[in-house]
Amino acid sequence: MADDERERLRATFTEDPALYDRVRPGYPEEMFDDLAGAADLGTGSLVLEIGPGTGQATVPMVRRGWEVVAVELGAAMAERARRNLRPYPRAEVVTAAFEDWPLPRRPFDAVVSATAFHWIDPDVRIAKSAKALRPGGVLATVATHHVKGGTVGFFHEVQACYERFDPATPPGLRLSPAAEIPYDRDEIESAEGFGPPEFIRYEWELAYSTEQYIDLLRTYSGHRALPPTARAGLLNCVAALADARYGGRVVKRYLTELRVARRQ
Ligand SMILES: C[S@@+](CC[C@H](N)C(=O)[O-])C[C@H]1O[C@@H](n2cnc3c(N)ncnc32)[C@H](O)[C@@H]1O
Repeated sequence: MADDERERLRATFTEDPALYDRVRPGYPEEMFDDLAGAADLGTGSLVLEIGPGTGQATVPMVRRGWEVVAVELGAAMAERARRNLRPYPRAEVVTAAFEDWPLPRRPFDAVVSATAFHWIDPDVRIAKSAKALRPGGVLATVATHHVKGGTVGFFHEVQACYERFDPATPPGLRLSPAAEIPYDRDEIESAEGFGPPEFIRYEWELAYSTEQYIDLLRTYSGHRALPPTARAGLLNCVAALADARYGGRVVKRYLTELRVARRQ
């Protein structure tokens, strides 16, 4: 993705932090246990989080007693995260672009980024994470994929709405089963300073009413960035399909991939 397109899209999340907070799912609890094991994290460990949103991964981390400094680009998003983290004095949310944020002198035990690392400048994100870590610390990134499963027929049919209203949609696009999603290994394996990455994957499903599903779509940067008429047309088309053919209930299947690489 071109730099200006990435910067335009990544700025959309903070437009409606209340919506994001209400409808974006968190992550399987098991993932944080696995992260603790893979990264040797325990009470008092110091974690830098990149792109916390409203705290979807931050809250489970501070609940485990980890001290988290979270760097969030969107001012309104950061404000909402601070509100959610008020009960946890071990969390600090800084409003900044990670690329521009001056690293503190004290090194971190882990750098964590949940569904956010792809929004960071590719020329900066790995090298700056390495700099932020103590030797032996880990870079843990979480990727979220929508995979084949759940209400399969709905996701097959909904493609027609995208082809009609979203010019960026490749024709005939179909969801892939989780087993066909490639591991996100190239960037970290070709970077200097990290050992071989470890991957742990989780597959899970969430059921949405039509209204909840439309709200979820309204949090996605690609949907937010559509011109208003196309966006309204798309969301109406999706809602009509869910109501008319699927009884107003859609099950979405998620693949969450945790990638952990140790700084050498
Ligand atoms: C898709 S959201 C993920 C939020 C949350 N971690 C989650 O798991 O739902 C991406 C987040 O990264 C933030 N972000 C994007 N670019 C950033 C940057 N350069 N520095 C810090 N945060 C950034 C966005 O504002 C947004 O809150």
